[in-house]
Amino acid sequence: MRTPILVTGALGQIGSELVPALRERYGADQVVASDIRMVPRSELFGEGPFEFLDCTRQKRIQEVVQRYRIGTVYHLAALLSAVAEQKPQVAWEVNMGGLYRVLEVARESRCAVFVPSSIGAFGPGTPRRRTPQDTIQRPTTMYGVTKVSGELLCDYYHLRFGLDTRGVRFPGIISHSAPPGGGTTDYAVDIFHEAVHHGRYTCFLRADTSLDMMYMPDAVKAMIELMEADPERLRHRNAFNVAAMQFTPETLAAEIAKHVEGFTIDYRVDPVRQAIADSWPDSLDDSAAREEWGWSPEYDLPAMTEDMLANLRRKLGPASE
Ligand SMILES: NC(=O)c1ccc[n+]([C@@H]2O[C@H](COP(=O)([O-])OP(=O)(O)OC[C@H]3O[C@@H](n4cnc5c(N)ncnc54)[C@H](O)[C@@H]3O)[C@@H](O)[C@H]2O)c1
Repeated sequence: MRTPILVTGALGQIGSELVPALRERYGADQVVASDIRMVPRSELFGEGPFEFLDCTRQKRIQEVVQRYRIGTVYHLAALLSAVAEQKPQVAWEVNMGGLYRVLEVARESRCAVFVPSSIGAFGPGTPRRRTPQDTIQRPTTMYGVTKVSGELLCDYYHLRFGLDTRGVRFPGIISHSAPPGGGTTDYAVDIFHEAVHHGRYTCFLRADTSLDMMYMPDAVKAMIELMEADPERLRHRNAFNVAAMQFTPETLAAEIAKHVEGFTIDYRVDPVRQAIADSWPDSLDDSAAREEWGWSPEYDLPAMTEDMLANLRRKLGPASE
């Protein structure tokens, strides 16, 4: 990986765990965190630079990239699926306008670029089970439209300008540090907080909605391993299917109930998020990622559930044990 590294949208759910992992691996001064939000210094990532950066402002991106002589950009800034459905025009501007400007600056400064795509880049016409790496992508949400367009744009910059662009299609990401940013799979994070605090959860998706999910340590591992992979071995670039586990709200609740006595779940379905979930695959075929850069997740449903609950209980203190 070429350092120094710039992370956009670094205060979000993924960035807040990626930045510490990158700093541990490459050194705190080698990783510039940035976001359009400002938080008190005490809530930042400790040592290491932070820049206020709006990814829709090209001059500002260029300024930061040049000042730190950035070698790799992890471009995470985006509006997520549920938020993008509420504000489709803003989502286009941030997700596509931001990506285009990041790619232009990267082209001028010869940076490598990582861009996360999503299972949202698929649509109702996509085969739902074992969704292939190369398949029909006709999403029906603004989020999905920006994600599939982003994949194509990143591949175009690679083919046309020789830019080192790489990406993965993430499923729903589960984590205990930062709250999720308004996605359709947020229930799989909320359920753990409610289980620990109240012993019950009201779910906004139907009990039988099966979706692909991944625990954050595996997501961070994927982002680092792909950017460190030998480019000679990559036949695909934007973006690799990556998978770790599939479950429904019902099976997740049953797993949590093994650790939280008396835990119960009920359902109040949100039609907007249910429609989004219904247009996404159940499970991805990630054999291309396994073959081309050795992808292999560490956490399945039982291991993730145990670790999430242990971490949340630790934060709450001994009373919750
Ligand atoms: N979390 C998931 O489950 C998931 C799944 C698939 C793909 N992804 C993708 O991963 C990336 C990061 O997701 P996340 O979950 O951390 O999202 P998030 O919503 O938690 O964080 C996004 C961050 O981007 C920042 N941001 C918004 N507009 C900006 C702008 N104009 N300029 C700079 N920063 C801006 C926000 O302040 C926020 O801190 C996104 O591209 C998302 O589509 C996430």
